[in-house]
Amino acid sequence: MEKKKLIAGNWKMNGNLEANDALVRALVAGMKDAACSVAVCVPAPYLGQVQLLKAGSALELGAQDVSPHAQGAYTGEVSAPMLREFGVRYAIVGHSERRQYHGETDALVAEKAKTALAHGVTPIVCVGETLAEREAGQTEEVVKRQLAAVIHVNGHCISEIVVAYEPVWAIGTGKTATPEMAQQVHGLLRKQLGAATSHAERVHILYGGSMNAANAASLLAQPDIDGGLVGGASLKAADFLQIVAAAS
Ligand code: G3H
Repeated sequence: MEKKKLIAGNWKMNGNLEANDALVRALVAGMKDAACSVAVCVPAPYLGQVQLLKAGSALELGAQDVSPHAQGAYTGEVSAPMLREFGVRYAIVGHSERRQYHGETDALVAEKAKTALAHGVTPIVCVGETLAEREAGQTEEVVKRQLAAVIHVNGHCISEIVVAYEPVWAIGTGKTATPEMAQQVHGLLRKQLGAATSHAERVHILYGGSMNAANAASLLAQPDIDGGLVGGASLKAADFLQIVAAAS
């Protein structure tokens, strides 16, 4: 059976109570016929609000980060067990903005993924090369290293993760990887997963980086692109719903 595609919105540090209310109501109303899975990864303070707004719908809830620890004296952190109390299904880990602005290493990302999995939260593990790395011909080496760090921490749980390939140069820039460029990397990641698990075909590998209503269909038509991690275009219901429709 072909797996459903997954479209996950990453609101990043955007939103407020009023705007969230309108956006989530519009999504819930507009995705009734969606044949793909749909999630929104919202800022932590709004998890409770969105949990209530989406109740009874198929919309899934995600967080944008998770602590590598389950509990304790870690000021400012949010744990996977806390996320579960708000019905959170997914947590993004290793987003390039956290690697770049918060110094997150491959090892830390792997710890976060491992802790999330242990507490019933599916990590969306982000990998991707910078422009300098692509131009230096290091794309394959970088994404393989980033994914290997997660796989090797907890190999037997590999089929429970979601992978997101997000070329850093395409994030928020309007420069999307061509479908062929993205597929080439997705194919490499699938092969790497296949060497680690018998469930590689079940793993969702999402593309992220300026995905929008106009380019979603051609990206999602690629054999190893199983959905999208959508930033800017997830903040407008009409745009996001067009991407959902392209994945359905
Ligand atoms: O997590 C989402 C990505 O960073 C993509 O963001 O769609 O605004 O380029 P973007």
